[in-house]
Amino acid sequence: MVEKVMSEFPTYYHLLADLHIRRSPNTYLEIGVHEGHSLGLVGATTQVVGIDPEPKITSQLGDNITVVTSTSDDYFASESGQAPFGDAPIEMAFIDGMHHVEFALRDFINIEARSATTSTVLVHDCVPIDEETAKRERSTVIWSGDIWKLIPFLRTHRPDLEITVHDVEPTGLAEITNLDPTNTTLADRYDELVDELIATPWAGR
Ligand SMILES: C[S@@+](CC[C@H](N)C(=O)[O-])C[C@H]1O[C@@H](n2cnc3c(N)ncnc32)[C@H](O)[C@@H]1O
Repeated sequence: MVEKVMSEFPTYYHLLADLHIRRSPNTYLEIGVHEGHSLGLVGATTQVVGIDPEPKITSQLGDNITVVTSTSDDYFASESGQAPFGDAPIEMAFIDGMHHVEFALRDFINIEARSATTSTVLVHDCVPIDEETAKRERSTVIWSGDIWKLIPFLRTHRPDLEITVHDVEPTGLAEITNLDPTNTTLADRYDELVDELIATPWAGR
């Protein structure tokens, strides 16, 4: 079971909107933009990069927003992905791309390395609805995949991180702070740890 807190906000969109208003980050990176609904919640003064191999943006985005058509792995390996905002760190990020946990882990590793200690990383889909929608293989219309495994894994292997999982509809949002861009624990042990991560048994919502 994922340790989580009740939220005053009904959905992750409401919570995201509140975080953008309260934190007003100078820079924001989003992985998995789809139609641009979560991107549409950013403030006008925030510099934004959104990454998605198949973006399907449905409305006009502000001049402060750049959408890059790429997988997150390819983006971070590219020259622009080395420093998405030049000398400035990523102040806030939202991981909502591929719904397999090892992708979210790599996204977290890459984002933390480009962040400041005061930055915030948000992760969607950390409170699954039920076992069927939380499997690696997709068999349902609503599918959060096995992203939920990331939270107990980080609590074990990176106890220095501060993690709050908000129980918002439909599948929760984790807020990770106290980052350490110099910490290479996860990257150094990635091959060894990823098998353990994927094998995490279902323990309920
Ligand atoms: C659930 S949607 C994102 C929804 C959006 N964040 C929102 O809340 O409005 C997931 C998106 O992740 C994208 N995606 C899939 N694999 C990806 C990858 N390897 N890197 C980045 N994005 C990926 C998909 O194309 C899809 O548009």
